[in-house]
Amino acid sequence: MSNSFTMIGGEGPNSYREHSKFQGALVEASKEKINEAIATKLDIDITSNLINIADFGCSSGPNTFIVVQTIIDAVEHKYQKESNLEEIEFQVFFNDSPTNDFNTLFKTVPSTRRYFATGVPGSFFGRVLPRNSLHVGVSSYSLHFVSKIPKEFKDRDSPVWNKDIHCTGFSKEVAKLYLDQYKVDLWSFLNARAQELMSGGLLVLLGSCLPNGVQMSETVPGMMIDFIGSSLNEIAKQGLVDQQKLNTFKLPIYLAHTDVLKQIIEDYGCFTIEVFKKISHANGEFPLDPEYLTQSFKVTVGGSVASQFGQDAMEKTYELVKKKTQEKLPQLAQAKPGMQYLIVLRKN
Ligand SMILES: C[S@@+](CC[C@H](N)C(=O)[O-])C[C@H]1O[C@@H](n2cnc3c(N)ncnc32)[C@H](O)[C@@H]1O
Repeated sequence: MSNSFTMIGGEGPNSYREHSKFQGALVEASKEKINEAIATKLDIDITSNLINIADFGCSSGPNTFIVVQTIIDAVEHKYQKESNLEEIEFQVFFNDSPTNDFNTLFKTVPSTRRYFATGVPGSFFGRVLPRNSLHVGVSSYSLHFVSKIPKEFKDRDSPVWNKDIHCTGFSKEVAKLYLDQYKVDLWSFLNARAQELMSGGLLVLLGSCLPNGVQMSETVPGMMIDFIGSSLNEIAKQGLVDQQKLNTFKLPIYLAHTDVLKQIIEDYGCFTIEVFKKISHANGEFPLDPEYLTQSFKVTVGGSVASQFGQDAMEKTYELVKKKTQEKLPQLAQAKPGMQYLIVLRKN
């Protein structure tokens, strides 16, 4: 399976662009706290009059434009007293996997922007920018991925073969192997950013994790991924996808528990944790609407399903997912809440 896990591109009705309001709501709800962190914690030399900002895992819009503009506004506000703002220029680096729909991203970049826009394709688990070149980095809903699936999960004869298509949290052995890989990957991400950021620069992380004690499949996203898995199995029984191929199909998604996430960052060092905050807001939970839920998990996970099993099998899978979502609404209504976070790290 390819390690890239890109969203469905384009501007059409089935694109991530049209169905990423859930992710965008966290950016909106965090704006004030991001402004505050930039005002009080960013500590950079601006004598060069060039400020570099990067979004890691930008996808194809529109949330990336909102978060980037939030950062620019906050930086301008901070430095307006001590500098001639006319002279400051902003350069924004949009990063994502090479398979991301960069064409749509650059076609829709706001015409009123006051920054130079650059694409930097490549895995954010490695370096994508020069050393000491970055003032503020951001990553929104992009750090719940692992770079590879532990090979034991794909081997039907292995004692830790994972019959599910993700880490439900219910098998300790499977969860441990996912976590081991997640730690390696998060450290790689932090290591790359630590080299790219200037001392005193900030890294703003937004996304979802699991409240301590809650397992993935007890939350709405976990249940939705379980429905995708069971739908794929039904399709396999009908002979529409190859069962053996399905046995090895695992999503590179892993949500860490809050304390574990914090510990991994602390253990890495190099950064001071300035903000580690649960952001509660009205749009922080998925609405219990089968159409909305099915679309949300189609634009995010559907691309991987289609790339493995073909477009037809993917469409059929999601017809079943929608049906299951309708039938299982009472179960979804009992789901445990997830957690949305804002983390701000300062490069030491
Ligand atoms: C759910 S989307 C989030 C998009 C956007 N930041 C937002 O908040 O709406 C996650 C993005 O992370 C990207 N991504 C996942 N793994 C990546 C990697 N190793 N390197 C770069 N981008 C990656 C995916 O391609 C996808 O565009």
